[in-house]
This record gives sequence, C-alpha cells and structure tokens, in this order.
Amino acid sequence: MAGPMWLLMMLGIESHQPLLLTRNVNSSADPQAQKYISESKCLVIEKNGKLRYEIDTGEETKLVNPEDVARLIFSKMKETAHSVLGSDANDVVVTVPFDFGEEQKSALGEAAGAAGFNVLRLIHEPSAALLAYGIGQDHPTGKSNVLVFKLGGTSLSLSVMEVNSGMYRVLSTKTSDNIGGAHFTDTLAQYLASEFQRLFKYDVRGNARAMMKLMNSAEVAKHSLSTLGSANCFVDSLYEGQDFDCNVSRARFELLCSPLFNKCTEAIRELLRQTGFTADDINKVVLCGGSSRIPKLQQLIKDLFPAVDLLNSIPPDEVIPIGAAIEAGILVGKESTAGDDSVMIECSAKDILVKGVDESGADRFTVLFPSGTPLPARRQHTLQAPGSVSSVCLELYESEGKNSAKEEAKFAQVVLQDLDKKENGLRDILAVLTMKRDGSLQVTCTDQDTGKCEAITVEVAS
Ligand SMILES: *[C@@H]1O[C@H](CO)[C@@H](O)[C@H](O)[C@H]1NC(C)=O
Ligand SMILES: *[C@@H]1O[C@H](CO)[C@@H](O)[C@H](O)[C@H]1NC(C)=O
Repeated sequence: MAGPMWLLMMLGIESHQPLLLTRNVNSSADPQAQKYISESKCLVIEKNGKLRYEIDTGEETKLVNPEDVARLIFSKMKETAHSVLGSDANDVVVTVPFDFGEEQKSALGEAAGAAGFNVLRLIHEPSAALLAYGIGQDHPTGKSNVLVFKLGGTSLSLSVMEVNSGMYRVLSTKTSDNIGGAHFTDTLAQYLASEFQRLFKYDVRGNARAMMKLMNSAEVAKHSLSTLGSANCFVDSLYEGQDFDCNVSRARFELLCSPLFNKCTEAIRELLRQTGFTADDINKVVLCGGSSRIPKLQQLIKDLFPAVDLLNSIPPDEVIPIGAAIEAGILVGKESTAGDDSVMIECSAKDILVKGVDESGADRFTVLFPSGTPLPARRQHTLQAPGSVSSVCLELYESEGKNSAKEEAKFAQVVLQDLDKKENGLRDILAVLTMKRDGSLQVTCTDQDTGKCEAITVEVAS
C-alpha cells in the first residue's frame, strides 16, 4: 500500500487527577479544589498561587506540578500506543469531562502537546459517547434527546444531549463526586471486614495493611460479580497469619450497594427535573464508565426508561475512547484529501458475538467486538458450564444488524473435550479472543480448573 497510513489514537483521562489543573485559582475559595486536596493520596500544597504535589522520594521532598503529572501520563500512553501499533502515530483527539473549564482544558491540551502528541481537537466526553454509537450520524435529520450515563472510578457524570441534524448540544449536566466504582469496592471491603470480625472476633478496620488487602480482594470480586452469580474472596494471612475465605453472592452485593444504586437513579431523576423533562422525553441512553457494567444498575436504568434503547454493546470503559478515535478519523480524513491516497481506519466490519445460556435456559448473545471496533483488539469472556459435563463448546456468531438476534450466523466454535468431571458446582472456561488488524480472529479457551486448553484461528472474510 502506497502512502502513509494514518493511525488513530484514543485517549480518555479520568477526571480526578487533572482537576488539580486549575491554574491561578484561589483554592481556599474553591470547594471542589478543597475536596480533591483532602482526598489526594499525596500532600497538596499551594505555592505562589499554584497547587503542587509534595512527594517524598526517601532522600528529598520534591514539589511536582499537576501539569507535569498529566504530561507523564500522556507520555506513558504514547509509549503504549506506539508499542501496540508498531508505529509512531502522534495525532490525537483528547476527551475532557464536560465540566472542565477553559483553563483546565487548555492545560490538558498543553500537557498532551508537551508529551509529543499532535492534538487535533479536544472534545467533551458526552459528545464522544454519542459518536461511538454513531448517534445522529446515520440518519442526520430529525431531533432526539440522549442521556449519557457515565459512572467512572470516582464520580458519576450525567448529561442530557440534544441531537439535531447531526449536531450535538448539551442541554444539562450533573456531576456527583460522591459516587463511583471506588465506593462499590469500599462497600464490599467493609462487608468483608465485618464478616472477618464475625468469624474471628477481630476488627481489622483500623489496620491499613489488612484493609488494603480486603480492598484488592473486593475489587476483583466486584468485577467477577458483573458476569457471575457469586465470587470468592480469599485473602492469605489477613491478620496474624489468619487466612480469610468468603463467598459473596451477587444478591448480597446488590443488597449492600442498594444505597449507591439509589444515588444513581436519584441523580438521573434530578437531572430530568432540572432539564424540565420526563423519562418519555429521552429517546436513547448511552452507558459509559467501567462501573456501568454492574447488571443491577443497568436493570434499574432500564426500569426508569422502559421504552428506550439502552446502548451497552460497546464495553463501557471503551465508549469514550472509541468516540475520540472516530472523531480523529473524521478530522484526519478531512485533512488528508490532498496528497495521501488512502485513509485507512482498521476496524471490525461486523458484530462478533458469543452465545451463552441464561438462568432460564434461553440463548443469550453477548457482543464481544461491536462493528467498528478499532483493531487490533483483545477480549476476554468467561463461559460457565455445569461441572458434570465432560465437554464444553464455545460458539461464535457474527451479525450485521444492530441487536437483532435473528441475523446472527455461526461462523466458528471451539470445543474442549474429555474434561474431568467436577463433583459439584460450575466450571469456568476462560476464552481469550484476539482480532488482528487483518480481521483474523484467534481464540483460546482454557478450563480454569484443569488448565486444559484449545486454540483456533479463523480467517474472517470481510
Ligand atoms: C482566597 O479566598 C479566601 C476565602 O474566600 C480569602 O479569605 C482570601 O483572602 C483569598 N485570597 C486571595 C489571594 O484572594
Ligand atoms: C465457596 O464456594 C465454593 C464453591 O461453591 C466452595 O467450595 C467453598 O467451600 C466456599 N467457601 C466458603 C468459605 O464458603
């Protein structure tokens, strides 16, 4: 292929760190700055009207500018992107939270520039989320309202967007800093501590080291509970050599976290009131941020908007970066019409799905690579099967239609045979799928109990 191939890069940055990029503000008068200072893991001091991190390296104390931290994060992202792509692509679209002020935005843009990126544009996260799903792009006429629900690590950001003739306008937004993925992990860790106390009569809540171990275990369990009905938490030598072993069911997790779920739904209701809307005025809901994976949360949002499309086929933590990449594609495509003979965006052409069975025994399809996924891409999927069966089959389907089960066509399967019977319980089969830039798909299935493994490669003709 002649001509340079343009490569697109995706960047999303969590909002808690760069929020300190407030330059020349009186931080004692800014409640949000105060909140971040009190929650920061390292000491923040104000010097000459600017906020700095004070870091103890063991030999000396250093003052570090937030801008330098942002630049380091961008440098690391650039390094990762270059090694994944095998090329030195430098064009980026950077996404910023909607509530970023002009100064914070430009500080972030400058940090990306200082890391060696060529910043094509800064766009708001809710716009990126709409772009990821092509909202307003395929049928550019007509008006609709979209709710963007983003539950990140430390905050919940809600936006109501009006889409009119392919143009996006933010009607209203609401950000809550008192709810995020970290709060769900913390709730679970507190529960584990109370279970430990019940069993061993010792309260570890005052012990930072023990709590850190419980937080790590809770984090892993929380992720498992998004796909499985129960999760095991095992902590080696939690306190005075005592191991801790505990199973948490999804129902238990949902009960523990119900105050957090209520905060989310209350925030949605509040935003609708603020916008002067009822649920019927919303036409689509886009889910983003890793914590919006939680099944119960998705159910509660569906209940609030029974008649609405809930868009969740793209892994929620990738929605905003994918939107940024699409924007970059549009911008680069425009700029390269003269001279360069090809603009290539490598992405999957069809939805790739895996078939599973839900509690009622009905087939359930899970989209692993939605069409338009930038390549190469890698996904993991855990398939559960009864321990009593000796073979398990992973079936892969492709589909051109959006969310329409009828159009799915099976194109590959991986069979694990002669598995040792398991006395009771379920067996977990971990499937790792890698789609290469040429569209070929490599699938490896491993039985988590025995380590037995099968791999296939499918050349996808599309
Ligand atoms: C910063 O704000 C505080 C509290 O509102 C006020 O007392 C102080 O004088 C302000 N400092 C400057 C330099 O404006
Ligand atoms: C957790 O569940 C597994 C599988 O059902 C079981 O083998 C194990 O004994 C349970 N652990 C505890 C502490 O209950």
